[in-house]
Amino acid sequence: MKELTSSPAELNEPLAGVEHIAIIMDGNGRWAKKRLMPRNVGHKKGAENLRKLIKDADSLGLKYLSVYAFSTENWKRDKEEVESIMGLFRKYLTEYFTGNENKNIRVKLIGNLEALPKDIFQKGKEVEKETANYTGLTLIIAINYGGRDEIVRAAKKMLINLQKTNTLIENITEAAFEKYLDTYTIPHPEIVIRTSGELRISNFLLWQAAYSEFYFTNTLWPDFTIEDIKKAIEEYSSRERRFGK
Ligand code: IPE
Ligand code: IPE
Ligand code: MG
Repeated sequence: MKELTSSPAELNEPLAGVEHIAIIMDGNGRWAKKRLMPRNVGHKKGAENLRKLIKDADSLGLKYLSVYAFSTENWKRDKEEVESIMGLFRKYLTEYFTGNENKNIRVKLIGNLEALPKDIFQKGKEVEKETANYTGLTLIIAINYGGRDEIVRAAKKMLINLQKTNTLIENITEAAFEKYLDTYTIPHPEIVIRTSGELRISNFLLWQAAYSEFYFTNTLWPDFTIEDIKKAIEEYSSRERRFGK
């Protein structure tokens, strides 16, 4: 029988050694559909949910939280839906992270940001700059992000640099290549969570998640809370990571 008091994770250390959690925030559309509302209402709810969750994750002491907000494939959706998601980036990028609301959370954007509408790109850069010295949670927001796209962009950057510096092909190692990824300096996620019951990676952090532990929940993104994060950590603490050994 399970102990009623507290889980192993809670007993020893609330984070069980976890520094970085990555989340595929899925299910906004279904959340709205269930309530007979348009998809954009679900996206707005999802954005509000993130606003709350990052504060709770910061309070929990998590160091890095990565969230998949818009994929390189999401451009295939209806123009109207894409526009409403872009509108949310415009609104929330500044509202969340500037002024009095946030004095702690450091923000970093990953993805092919230069291909975003110019004003969103600029807002993103401003927010990164403004929060660069904050010492709490680092929130990594993946916008126009695809794992394959990131790897191809990294390969291009590396080739340009190799030519410039006359570096030998033999010097290309995994560690050398990693420097060109968007996530350079951020540790790989110990846990990748996907909400809404879908069991796939959908092009998120392909390189970085090579040995991550996966946690799937049926909860739709707008209903996901810090309690779900704690459950994921608890489950993680009972798994054995082998890394091929
Ligand atoms: C995730 O929710 C948000 C984005 C992909 C931008 P979805 O919009 O994919 O919601 P479902 O999967 O249709 O329910
Ligand atoms: C993945 O969700 C992308 C984000 C959560 C931003 P999707 O809803 O786009 O993924 P698929 O199409 O179901 O694989
Ligand atoms: Mg989806």
